[in-house]
Amino acid sequence: MQPADTDLQPVEEAVVQEPPKPAFQSASINFVKEGKEVVAAQGANLRIKAIENQVDLYTFGGKLMNCGGNGQCGTCIVEVIEGMENLSPRTAFEERKLKKKPASYRLACQALVNGAVSVKTKP
Ligand code: FES
Repeated sequence: MQPADTDLQPVEEAVVQEPPKPAFQSASINFVKEGKEVVAAQGANLRIKAIENQVDLYTFGGKLMNCGGNGQCGTCIVEVIEGMENLSPRTAFEERKLKKKPASYRLACQALVNGAVSVKTKP
């Protein structure tokens, strides 16, 4: 049975507003020695971004013996020139491995980039 015309209510057009989209959070990495500026998503792994952009992190020995980014070998050392505050905190492995190194040194495979940083490879 059809409803009577009087039962029908005019439908108001709903105005649907999309919630504001979060801005893309990006980070930038300046590889000082190589003269390369790389844009990455916030939280990107420093070692992976270096490899993706053909930035060589390893010395000869490190090329042969590195752990593949598992935080075991300590061969992916970089010196942070600027933006240390934009990297994730040092991991326990870094604290052990870099105990006798300057505070500006990080292991690239353990560092996540959350903003602008400048790093020097093979310090
Ligand atoms: S690649 Fe081995 S500790 Fe970073």
